[in-house]
Amino acid sequence: MKVGVIGAGTMGSGIAQAFAQCAEVETVYLCDIKEEFAEGGFNKIKGGLDKRVAKGKMEQAAADAITNKIKTGLNTICVDADLIVEAALENMEIKKNCFKELQDNIVKNPDCIFASNTSSLSITEIGSGLSKPVIGMHFFNPAPVMKLVEVIAGINTPVEVVDKVKEISVALGKTPVQVNEAAGFVVNRILVPMINEGICVYAAGVSDIEGIDNAMKLGCNHPMGPLELGDFIGLDIVLAIMDVIYAETGDSKYRACPLLRKMVRGKRLGCKTGIGFYNYADGKKVPTD
Ligand code: 3HC
Repeated sequence: MKVGVIGAGTMGSGIAQAFAQCAEVETVYLCDIKEEFAEGGFNKIKGGLDKRVAKGKMEQAAADAITNKIKTGLNTICVDADLIVEAALENMEIKKNCFKELQDNIVKNPDCIFASNTSSLSITEIGSGLSKPVIGMHFFNPAPVMKLVEVIAGINTPVEVVDKVKEISVALGKTPVQVNEAAGFVVNRILVPMINEGICVYAAGVSDIEGIDNAMKLGCNHPMGPLELGDFIGLDIVLAIMDVIYAETGDSKYRACPLLRKMVRGKRLGCKTGIGFYNYADGKKVPTD
């Protein structure tokens, strides 16, 4: 199977690695709007694998077998892909234009499945205007590690495509959970309002940053507290998901915390900008309060 991954950011490169680790995948096309962005995604994968080799957790040959499957470039290299997973920016127009371009001018395989890794946008809407419907294939960060794939059927997604994508998810070593289209699907509908509530609790002065994170780690056995998880996901993504759930449901319980919006406006997005609730300068992680 040949797989195209569109977008070489954190999620795209993680998804590309997850596919490249699968025995049934012969080639992964890791694509972005500029070749250097795609190469940046590849270097991130290689860097992670090099570390595992250095720690004795992986053989060099196994790491090479993964990286050798990955070809980087613009979307135009996806000509003979059997599956394309789009992990571009969380913007409806960008996603729709991307698939239209792939359908009309690039992909020659008529059976190629178009899937989106969107974290909350409507799968039906992403596929509207195309000759065949899109499916949601939602991975979780870090994609090579996290075991879940939410498989999201839009209103027009054929059952055979849903079954095929579940089968592919199992081949990747993941567990697929089928989800009907709804804002935030299952995980983000529950997880992201929890992170937002953590931010509200902090803004209300109930505890400090480490206090809130430790409380949820130790009291609920969560691997990360809500504020560090918000930094890890990216506070811009957290805000975008809150805004989509709020807009789609009209329910005020999904209103984004004003502090979250202020931090995004101030480019305090978390790990990716080096500062969020924590400061990540010099490889450390220091609470900002
Ligand atoms: N890429 C590849 N592998 C990675 C990785 C990455 N970015 N980060 C960690 N790993 C691997 C490590 O190599 C290690 O593998 P090993 O056991 O074979 O050596 C393993 O994961 C565990 O890593 P660490 O020992 O370094 O660290 P932890 O045990 O603390 O685990 C974690 C790190 C897996 C990130 C854990 O803290 C965790 O599960 N955090 C919560 C993550 C989460 O909730 N993700 C979902 C976010 S929501 C989302 O993505 C949806 C989106 O739409 C917003």
